[in-house]
Amino acid sequence: MTIEQMTEKLRNTLEEKRFNHSLNVMEEAVRIANHYGADVEKARIAGLLHDCAKNYPKEELYAMCDKFGICLNETAKKEAGLIHGFVGAYLLKEEYGIDDEEIFDAVYYHTIGKPDMPLLTKIIFIADCTEPSRKAEWVDEIRNTVCEDIDKALIIQLDNTIRSVLKKGTLLHTNTVDTRNFYIEQKR
Ligand SMILES: [Fe+2]
Ligand SMILES: [Fe+2]
Repeated sequence: MTIEQMTEKLRNTLEEKRFNHSLNVMEEAVRIANHYGADVEKARIAGLLHDCAKNYPKEELYAMCDKFGICLNETAKKEAGLIHGFVGAYLLKEEYGIDDEEIFDAVYYHTIGKPDMPLLTKIIFIADCTEPSRKAEWVDEIRNTVCEDIDKALIIQLDNTIRSVLKKGTLLHTNTVDTRNFYIEQKR
């Protein structure tokens, strides 16, 4: 499937706002990948498709977790917003014919993060947050840091993600805390 075909398929799957966000994340991921000498084509695909499972109803998402054998912890079983990345990673192969470990990892962990992320996973995690339609005031700090120190940018993003989860009163996935601790520890 060409990137144009993937884009058209995605357009039919997502709400307009989410589709536009996906295009933005794709461009942002390419920009960061270029800066770090990462694989730009993989960044383009992972950025475009990272939210490909986002608009499925909750019941369908959980049914697909069962189907793909995705192991959910207690938090993910209760917070549907956390699982679209896991399902999306499996849909890459099933729906888009993409069988690539790095792209799979980047899509799988884009919501919750994981300690010691591969470069492409870091790029998608950050691009999801720094794409131009994201307006939270703390995002500028990440935009200003990402090209200088990607791990520092990750810490700023993780801190703010945790703060906003606390503010919303939703469940926090332990991966997000473990990821923050990993990068804080690494900076010591
Ligand atoms: Fe997402
Ligand atoms: Fe996203």
